Amino acid sequence: MLLAVVLLLLVVGTVAFHFLSPWWFTPLASNWGTIDLTILITFWVTGVVFIAVNLFLIYCVLKFRNRTERADYEPENTKLEVGLTVITAIGVAAMLAPGLFVWGQFIDPPDEAWELEALGQQWRWMYRLPGEDGELGTTDPGFISADNPFGINPHDERGQDDLLVSSSEVHIPVDRPVTFLLRSKDVLHNFAVAQFRVKMDLVPGLVTYMWLTPTETGTYDILCEELCGVGHFAMRGRVVVDSQEDFDAWSAQQVTFAETQALPPPDPTIGQALYGTCMACHGVDGSGVEQLNAPKITGLDEAYIAHQLTNFKKGIRGANEEDKYGQTMAPMMALLPDDASIRHVSAYVAGLPDEQAATTIEGDAEMGKRYYVTCEQCHGDIGQGIPAMGAPRLSGQSDWYLVRQLFNFKHGIRGAHPDDLYGFQMGAMARIFRDQQSMFDVVAYINTMPSPAEGENQIASLELNQE
Ligand code: CUA
Repeated sequence: MLLAVVLLLLVVGTVAFHFLSPWWFTPLASNWGTIDLTILITFWVTGVVFIAVNLFLIYCVLKFRNRTERADYEPENTKLEVGLTVITAIGVAAMLAPGLFVWGQFIDPPDEAWELEALGQQWRWMYRLPGEDGELGTTDPGFISADNPFGINPHDERGQDDLLVSSSEVHIPVDRPVTFLLRSKDVLHNFAVAQFRVKMDLVPGLVTYMWLTPTETGTYDILCEELCGVGHFAMRGRVVVDSQEDFDAWSAQQVTFAETQALPPPDPTIGQALYGTCMACHGVDGSGVEQLNAPKITGLDEAYIAHQLTNFKKGIRGANEEDKYGQTMAPMMALLPDDASIRHVSAYVAGLPDEQAATTIEGDAEMGKRYYVTCEQCHGDIGQGIPAMGAPRLSGQSDWYLVRQLFNFKHGIRGAHPDDLYGFQMGAMARIFRDQQSMFDVVAYINTMPSPAEGENQIASLELNQE
């Protein structure tokens, strides 16, 4: 009797929870209402079966509870078996068949759909849009380099006017069907936007795709929904659905592949002249001056330096009012008026001879080693930095500065700007540090890493061993 009551409560509670629960689909922003419908059908079929099976169970518990008589043994009952098989088959077909119809539409983009490419890599998104010719150029992983991160075929005319978006945010116009072509540079990723209801894996070596017609303007999060390594959770992007007018204005600001290739190489000699301003705080040799809160800037790769300078210039970094040292950099950026000057000075600084910075902090390097397991994924096992990850060198850099940056990242003083993708990832990582002491510990461990020169030898010997 008690069991029957429990079962009844379970049924009533489950049904009530389903209808009263605050959790439901996010508002739909695409043409894929049919995907919601298939889920609803599944809810109805499984819901009705759930109720029926449990009520039957209650009935059996009451009707056939233990009395003295013996149970009948009835191994064959054709009528019952046929009935159950037919009902189950109808239920299963009701759940699967609508999905097949929707899948048929999903893999068949309409002819009028325009194509855009989303490129995933650990742990970020980039995009490529067709230029004036309306076509994307061909690509090949063999063409991928620092200057050509998309691997666009430089000999393909159609690729020259492709618009490259290196930010994690992409815009698309409302009410126009669009096909997302999906490519991965490294491992499996997954492109998913909850409000669009569609998602698709990115598979290295393949171009996968999905299509939709956005129906509501707005900003939607792109989530990677395939476990792709330690930074998976931070692999976020944004898609902004614009009116056609706003979209045209936005796409007019994007650079073409040809423009990125036509940039003249940076000139360190011009950079040296520009470095005059930086020298006042960072020192003649770029070794940093702690009293002025200016870190050592040698030993960093050129792209990282240029990226940080650009962030300072755009107010992506150093604009937080709590970041008083970062703020001092912003006005200095007036002296680097354009991208070219940033590239010149970055080339000069990256070419400066590098010396290990003095050790100024103390901590438990053994403890720090445990924390560093997380950092290692991007910054390298000996803190050498991995430019492809946007991760700078840590070993041999100003240790007091590293501690302060960890603190700033953890507390959203650095990296919280919506356009600071790497900063966002680092902010998420920095939250593993419970307190100031743990930051000292990890930096103490970084201080035990080989100095830059030794590090290079060590990397060289590692490579030799692998050969
Ligand atoms: Cu990419 Cu998870």
